[in-house]
Amino acid sequence: MPINKIPTTPYLDQRPGTSGLRKKVKHFQQPHYLANFIQSILDALDSSTGKTLVLGGDGRYYNQEAIQIILKIAAANQIGRIIVGQNGLFSTPAVSCVIRNRQAFGGIILSASHNPAGINGDFGVKYNASNGGPAPESLTEAIYQKSQQIQQYYILESEDIPLDQLGIYILWEMTVEVVDPIADYLALMESLFDFDRIKDLFHQQGFQLCFDAMHAITGPYAQAIFQHRLGVQPGALLNHILLPDFGGGHPDPNLVYAKTLVEKMYGGNPPDFGAASDGDGDRNMILGQQFFVTPADSLAVLAANAHLVPGYQKGLVGIARSMPTSQAPDRVAEKLDIPCYETPTGWKFFGNLLDAGKITLCGEESFGTGANHIREKDGLWAVLFWLNLLAVKKQSVAAMVKNHWAEYGRHFYSRYDYDDLPLETAQTLMEDLNKQLSTLGGKQFGNYKIYTADDFAYQDSVDHTITSHQGIRLCFEDGSRIIYRLSGTGTQGATLRVYLETFALDPAQHNQDSQQVLSILASLAQNLAQIKEKAGCDQPSVIT
Ligand code: G1P
Ligand code: ZN
Repeated sequence: MPINKIPTTPYLDQRPGTSGLRKKVKHFQQPHYLANFIQSILDALDSSTGKTLVLGGDGRYYNQEAIQIILKIAAANQIGRIIVGQNGLFSTPAVSCVIRNRQAFGGIILSASHNPAGINGDFGVKYNASNGGPAPESLTEAIYQKSQQIQQYYILESEDIPLDQLGIYILWEMTVEVVDPIADYLALMESLFDFDRIKDLFHQQGFQLCFDAMHAITGPYAQAIFQHRLGVQPGALLNHILLPDFGGGHPDPNLVYAKTLVEKMYGGNPPDFGAASDGDGDRNMILGQQFFVTPADSLAVLAANAHLVPGYQKGLVGIARSMPTSQAPDRVAEKLDIPCYETPTGWKFFGNLLDAGKITLCGEESFGTGANHIREKDGLWAVLFWLNLLAVKKQSVAAMVKNHWAEYGRHFYSRYDYDDLPLETAQTLMEDLNKQLSTLGGKQFGNYKIYTADDFAYQDSVDHTITSHQGIRLCFEDGSRIIYRLSGTGTQGATLRVYLETFALDPAQHNQDSQQVLSILASLAQNLAQIKEKAGCDQPSVIT
């Protein structure tokens, strides 16, 4: 079979962001755009000849076409074997699981996570390394450098692989194994959680689940795990049919976008437990009856109760959370007498800590929770963890969280997003804040006194690399915090994220509404950054 050497020229915008390269579908469909990036990944890898890669995506528009192109480029570049999910599907956590299970050299994930899909939506490509986790910055930078010098790519001329049929195929000298995208992942979940107990919860105790797959990748996984393995009624699954445009929705599991689920959980006669996951299956949202569990509280509750679940009964070695995530997990770590690490935003920073055995659980405020079983956050894992705990504790979600607050105190928390700002406006706003930092320490604003203000920098405790400019942090004497940072995952303009947190130890204060408790801090955050004056925004676009 002939290998074609296709001359090409660099695209200047192929620098991967927080989570791989993300662009509009139409941007990816420009001549050679995807091929350039894939060739750059392969060029940046050391000695990939003959190695095994895992490949799959979240099923969004352009997934299958992209997979066929990638297979042919991989074959032309002497990759030895590609393990691809049936129909080109794999959730992000499942890719991580399969890379580790099969000791693959790495994997390519096609997804733009929680961004909308469809012909006018987004697409993305991300490379994961042999530990199953997102490529380290040194590798993403090397990929970018290759993309800036690229002059040609290699591609095999051949028929498409029938991705719908399980089996082994040969593409010139490369083997393509089309596998069930769920089997390895389900086996891993069964090794961590007590499936019999969860089954009992549904069958003996009449516990009702409602899981919203948002028409994205967790649809098929939820059917296999909840319906077929755990036997919940089909009605327990919402939006579980995977559609290439994710049903036109925004597959981000939060109170704004998981509307159908939220209405159900806050309506009359709600199910006992509600959960949702995002486009590629790595995020999760947990709800009880008329009750929302913040992601940081979720991580804290899981950490405090982990010993009740088979996979974690030996206890935890440490916890990590991203810097803007509330400090609720820190309090649990303190009590368990284990370390709690504070990392920059983005899952990749947890990788070294997990590989070095320094942490067992980790999470981010952006609906990401995970552990050392893989190197990605894991939506369905979090849902199963909760179900296992609820089956053991026989309490409602709300009771579990409220009891947790009574013991540790409550961290009121909210994130304000200002979307679609002109890049320059957002950057100037951040620079102006940065200039104020040296004068903010010690300043009093009503009841709030700043004790320290800085631009967060992180030193990795394993490889000692330093990552700077990870967000402006205003810390107040009463433990409250305001954090500002710009998103690294958007595909147009800039998004300013403002994170608000305040703490109350006294249970008498725990039942207040978060937005009310945080309202003064929110105005202060808006005033200090002059968001209205500089960006013209009266209100955030999304509050979570
Ligand atoms: C967002 C989240 C971050 C998460 C990332 C990938 O990144 O804030 O926590 O790791 O998506 O899912 P951001 O857009 O803020 O850079
Ligand atoms: Zn995701």
